[in-house]
Amino acid sequence: MMNEVVGVPTETVYGLAANALNTEAVLKIYQAKNRPAFNPLIVHVGQVSDLELYTTAIPDLVYQLAEKFSPGPLTYLLPKNNIIPDLVTSGLDAVALRIPSHPMFQRLLKEINFPLAAPSANPFGYISPTAANHVYQGLSGKIPYIVDGGPSNIGLESTIISFLNDTPEILRFGGISPEAIEKVLGVKIKIPEKVAFKPLAPGMLKSHYAPSIPLYFGDLETLKPWCGPEVAVISLSGSPELTGTQYILSPENDLQEAASQLFQVLRAVDRPDIYSRILAVKFPDAGLGFAINDRLTRASVNS
Ligand code: TXA
Ligand code: MG
Repeated sequence: MMNEVVGVPTETVYGLAANALNTEAVLKIYQAKNRPAFNPLIVHVGQVSDLELYTTAIPDLVYQLAEKFSPGPLTYLLPKNNIIPDLVTSGLDAVALRIPSHPMFQRLLKEINFPLAAPSANPFGYISPTAANHVYQGLSGKIPYIVDGGPSNIGLESTIISFLNDTPEILRFGGISPEAIEKVLGVKIKIPEKVAFKPLAPGMLKSHYAPSIPLYFGDLETLKPWCGPEVAVISLSGSPELTGTQYILSPENDLQEAASQLFQVLRAVDRPDIYSRILAVKFPDAGLGFAINDRLTRASVNS
């Protein structure tokens, strides 16, 4: 097991985990996912004090956030020390570190004496897995083992926040909203204005999370021309204005519930035998709506 890759449950999405300090094991992650090696991996540790083991400097702001959000869906980008192999960070001087809260992942980290590199456990470019059977569907035959820890209750990847410059900067929207982060820090942070495609987070390529049939994303006006009988419509609480089969993420307008359903619903509507296209109505730009809109933009063919 020391040099193997394993599908593991986390509270955000399922991960494909391997010993972050062993390049042979880390290589297997890239191979199983068919992931380009210029895309660095998040390193998972068991507790906040472990962050020190792999970094050269940790600003106080990190501890302020960690007190509130770790373990949980927040990843800190920090200057790395030389214990972390270059393969994990694609040669960058910074390492992304997260303390996952899922009890089975926590137990696993307690039983081993190394950190775990883990990307989402999906073939590169496809929808992230929020259940063990999603991992099986995407990677069976390519990995020896999947740990089933039930559905991921956050349902979206972690928020990635960089501490490489004086002002903290969100690199990826995710399970912790920008508002919640600013509230804890009491300062303004940098947040991407729209979907950003920066070289610093190479994973944030366009055409990620893409279903096999075209997905159109936007407001009602943008989507109307695409309506029709063979259409699946995804929205927060229903969009009767758009003809098609309705997939409602939260009848109560609860963005947290919507986030937890998103990837599962994207998989459910990815049915070329039933639908010719998917319409996804833009979510409010607030709270977890930023992360939901980000994923839908990347999954779409029109934005
Ligand atoms: O919730 C999550 O973060 C999940 C679970 C499994 O922990 N993991 C996850 O990993 O989403 P992945 O590989 O699918 O996405 C990680 C993102 C990628 O966009 C990658 O480019 C970025 O994090 N990243 C990782 N290390 C980085 C680094 N050193 N510098 C810049 N970006 C980094
Ligand atoms: Mg991923």
